[in-house]
Amino acid sequence: MIVKGFLKDVGGASRVTNARRETYATASPLPDPKDPIRALADALHPGKQEFKVTKITDASPTSKTFRLEPLNGHVPVFQSGQYINFYLEIGTSKLTRAYSLASAPFEARLPQPFVEITIRRNVSYFVPDYFFDQVKEGTVLTAAMPFGNFYYEPLRDSKNIVALAGGSGITPFVSLAKEIAAGKLDVNLTILYGSVNHKDIVCGEQLAEAEKAAASLAAGGGSSASAGSGYGSVRVIHVMSDDPEWDGEKGFVTKELIEKYSAPDSTYMFCGPWPMYNFVTKALKELNVPARRFRHDVMQQPSKATNIPGFPEDQVGKVYKLTVVRGIQEDVVDARADEPVAVALERSAIAIDTHCRGGECGFCRSKLLAGDLFISPLGDGRRAEDKEQDYFHACSAYPMSDCKVKIPIM
Ligand code: FES
Repeated sequence: MIVKGFLKDVGGASRVTNARRETYATASPLPDPKDPIRALADALHPGKQEFKVTKITDASPTSKTFRLEPLNGHVPVFQSGQYINFYLEIGTSKLTRAYSLASAPFEARLPQPFVEITIRRNVSYFVPDYFFDQVKEGTVLTAAMPFGNFYYEPLRDSKNIVALAGGSGITPFVSLAKEIAAGKLDVNLTILYGSVNHKDIVCGEQLAEAEKAAASLAAGGGSSASAGSGYGSVRVIHVMSDDPEWDGEKGFVTKELIEKYSAPDSTYMFCGPWPMYNFVTKALKELNVPARRFRHDVMQQPSKATNIPGFPEDQVGKVYKLTVVRGIQEDVVDARADEPVAVALERSAIAIDTHCRGGECGFCRSKLLAGDLFISPLGDGRRAEDKEQDYFHACSAYPMSDCKVKIPIM
């Protein structure tokens, strides 16, 4: 059989090959700075970058919102529900800390792009203290973003989202509400937001504004909107657990409340403290919500180790020697039994990369060489093989004796 043009094609291929060889021979060893694929990859995954704090506002009597503008003029693409990770040096400590993005993705595409985080300080705590007391307008912070998979995914999630939030766990939903209110996302969002007292509501004004703007857009009040034209909705129901003055919903976010405000076949998204998570999980089970319809944000370990199921109470307050191996370097530091290994390292200015601080992402994966650790069962995301080979996540492991550990070099 004769294939027409076959020999011509073969000739063409060799011309290409020769041209490519020549290009390789004369090419610079450095990557082409104008390579559009490279530029796109850098834009999507720029790694660490610097942000300047340009605005600090109160989000409640105990919360502040920090607006951050990128020094390079570019914010990586992200989705509501993802987080930003800060690389901080506070006194002699070196640490990383993640915060959910409270600003909407569209705000990162404005001519003067920015992101926002909202931090609550209801008790004195290391990193919130730093942000409240030392970070000012003009401070430059190093951070990387975006991380996390706690976001709305149309191929997987229902168009009816019920957000179950507690305390500062509202921030990913503030971002989502703002995105919907700007007409960028066609999703019906109902937020059941639990607070102790109405004074504890975080980002209350932003939520109310988003509710109003989304309603106006759907009713045709937006610049290009018309009624029923495919815009989403935002509804916020505040639930107070201890507020005699409150005349709205009271108590906890119960099964009855969830049922009352849920549209059929909703996807439930949870962000809040552990006790609320346990409560809500039980309620959703009783409502026969299938597992695929329930998603939760990464949960950080409880600040009190004794709140972790199985944590041995007699270890509280004990201090052990932790030998830390990084490459050929070895250091010995003190480590409290009731604080995660990552915190002991940070206190001793030994840098360890942490993102979720809930045991799930694996950024702080380290190896136990000697000694005993208590591994928190909350959010333990280690692979089976890692467990067998004594790998642990430093954000969720507590020393129970003098230990020797090997951590990644940063
Ligand atoms: S920081 Fe994510 S597992 Fe430790």
